[in-house]
Order: sequence, then C-alpha cells, then structure tokens
Amino acid sequence: MWNGGVGVSRPFGIHEIALRELRHLGYLVPRRVAREETNVRVLVTGASGYIGAVMVPYLKEAGHEVSTFDLGLYESGAFSPRVPKADRRDIRSATVQDLDGFDAVVHLAALSNDPLGNLNEGLTFDINHTATTEFARLAASAGVSRFLFASSCSLYGAAGSSNVTEDAPFAPITAYGKAKVLVEQDLRKLASDKFSPTYLRNATVYGASPALRLDIVVNNLSAWAVATGRIVLLSDGTPWRPQVHVRDVCNAFLATLEAPRDMIHDEAFNVGRSTENYQVRDIAAMVGDAVPDALLQVPDAAGPDTRSYRVDFAKIEETLPGYTPQWTVRTGVDEVVDAFRAANMTEADFGRYTRLATIEREIEAGRLTTELKWL
Ligand SMILES: NC(=O)c1ccc[n+]([C@@H]2O[C@H](COP(=O)([O-])OP(=O)(O)OC[C@H]3O[C@@H](n4cnc5c(N)ncnc54)[C@H](O)[C@@H]3O)[C@@H](O)[C@H]2O)c1
Repeated sequence: MWNGGVGVSRPFGIHEIALRELRHLGYLVPRRVAREETNVRVLVTGASGYIGAVMVPYLKEAGHEVSTFDLGLYESGAFSPRVPKADRRDIRSATVQDLDGFDAVVHLAALSNDPLGNLNEGLTFDINHTATTEFARLAASAGVSRFLFASSCSLYGAAGSSNVTEDAPFAPITAYGKAKVLVEQDLRKLASDKFSPTYLRNATVYGASPALRLDIVVNNLSAWAVATGRIVLLSDGTPWRPQVHVRDVCNAFLATLEAPRDMIHDEAFNVGRSTENYQVRDIAAMVGDAVPDALLQVPDAAGPDTRSYRVDFAKIEETLPGYTPQWTVRTGVDEVVDAFRAANMTEADFGRYTRLATIEREIEAGRLTTELKWL
C-alpha cells in the first residue's frame, strides 16, 4: 500500500479521485493507479552497495515496489548473503527503456570515495558525473518524476570550523567531491514541472550493512579495534566530520520520496543530525569505550587532514516531514563492534570490505578491465 505522504495517514482502499487530489496537493502519486493496492515504483541504482543493500529492504518495508540496477563491483566482498543481487548493469550504457515505468529513481551508483577517485580521476568523472547526468536525462525522458541523488557533504571541502548550511559555497577538494558538484549543477537545469531532482548531501555514513565498507571512519576505527586491539588514526584526529547512520540515510530518502513535491523539488538537504559533528579523535574515544582493551595509535608524523568541515542539518530536521533519525555515533559503534565480534573479524578481512582494494583485486584477477567493465 502506497504511503500518500508523511503527515497524512496511509490511505486504505484508496481510489482514483483521492489519488488525483493527492497529486494536486503535490504528493508523488504513481501514474499506475488502476488497481486498488498501489505503491511507488522505485529504481535503486547502486543497490548492491553499502547503502543500497540497506535501502532496498527499507523501501520495500515501507510498501514501495523496488527494482535494482548495479554493476556489482563488490559482489565478491559481501559481509552477509543478504546483499541485493547485482545484475551487472552499467549506468554508462543505460537506455531509456531501463527507466521506463518508474515513478522515482534513488541514484546511489558511483565510485564512492576519494581513494577510488585517485585511482583514476577520469573514471570517477565518467561514472559519477557524465553517466550520472545522462542517466537523469534518460529518467526525465522516460517520465520518471523524482530523482533522488546521493550527493555528499564532501562538496563543502575545506570549510573551516563554522557549520555550513546548504547555501554555503562549494569548495570540493577531490575528483569525487567535484563530480558531486557538477551533477547537482546539471540536475538543476533538468528540473521541470514533470521532473523533480533532490540533492541529498550525506554526511559520512556508518553502521552495519550486508555490503559492508570499512573505508569509512566509524566502521574503520571500530574494525581495527575489534580485529587488532588497536585504534589507528591516519591524521592527528583534529578534523571535523559529520556522521550519519546508514538507516537514517535510508529514512531521509524515504521521507523525500513521500514528501509533497514542492518541499523537495530542486532542493538540497544536508543529511545527518546537528548533534553528530565530531572530530575524528572523539570517534576514536567512543570506539575505545566500546573496546576498552584497544590501544590508541597516532602516527608520529601525523598532521591535520585538510578535509575538515562541520555541517548544519537544521533544514532537513526542521522542514522535511517524516525525517526521524534514530542513531548516534555512540549507538552505531556499539552496533558495528557487536557485528564484527560476531563475525570474528580479523585484519585479513579488511581488503574484502575496502572498495579500492576490491577493485584492484578484480582487475589483477583478470575479471574486470581497468575501465571497470566485466570480462
Ligand atoms: N558511504 C558514505 O559515507 C557516503 C557519504 C556520502 C555520499 N555517499 C554516496 O552514496 C552513494 C552510495 O555509496 P555507498 O557507500 O553505498 O557506495 P558503494 O561503493 O558501497 O556502492 C556503490 C555501488 O554502485 C555500483 N556502481 C558503481 N559504478 C556503477 C556503474 N557504472 N553502473 C552501475 N552501478 C555502479 C557499485 O557496484 C556499488 O554496488 C554514492 O553515490 C556515494 O557517493 C556515500
């Protein structure tokens, strides 16, 4: 049963006239309304990735009809068998038929971090910018009405110590951050009466997922502590980073999917919580509380990381109906520490859950080309 929008109760036995009224009020009402039980048809790209593997069941549980689209780059490194199966479809070769019949796209597919961008900047721009903009264009031509883009707070770059709002200037440092800016700029040009892009600028994500990543700070420090008894910082621990739990990210996407159109049309939202900006050393201290025997290690020559920013989340917290984040880094550390202990994680497992290492392994094994095409 489709949820007509947060703030209105789920309409049971909904009929055509009620749907027309809801559409008039700006809610995302599916075009396929002939049958009584209906829901939004969503295409999730990057569905087999860290966020996607949590997003797909989350949206299904909310009653939506979810299809998946993923190149399957990390299928050899699943943490649990519950990762949505990748069909190895590539956004670089998508056609309008791939998008036909969907009400909304949740676009997560990307080379998802800075080290991947350093591997080959051109590839990061090809996938994260050019192919993503083209995918959105195809979605608009196919009549998809909402396009939820997984952007990133990293587009604020070196923003200093004041809390940045959605109106702050962009100052991306890496190819990854620059590509997010370029896509947002392109999507703004595509926004129309029929096509509503939304830019969800996620904080750094943490938490358990069947498609685990350990190249993100909370998961990384927690895994080091469990597997080796050490908490290893790569910088002096002073940079500020906002953090958000993977399920709270899914909640933000669900709220965007179900909000009245005028609240999300061509809007950017920082996704996180105002209370959840931390210095890396604060995160290390929380990991230390969860794994009391672990020793903190700061390399002798460690300097500050230039990617330091604090983010203001008032807009999403105060204006997006249905956004109800539940997690804090402290509860998230407890969650992942329990999961890593249960899985008997060792240092040898780290490469499996690190995006760059997995891609390098697949290329070395001759299964993937350097252009990231499957052989
Ligand atoms: N995890 C974070 O901390 C974080 C923070 C901010 C923004 N984001 C954004 O959220 C999105 C998802 O991140 P994640 O952590 O789940 O990343 P991930 O690397 O775990 O997942 C990305 C998925 O995209 C797929 N993919 C890559 N290239 C593709 C292509 N050409 N065609 C089809 N599929 C392709 C991969 O196979 C993978 O399953 C990304 O856009 C990322 O930039 C993530």
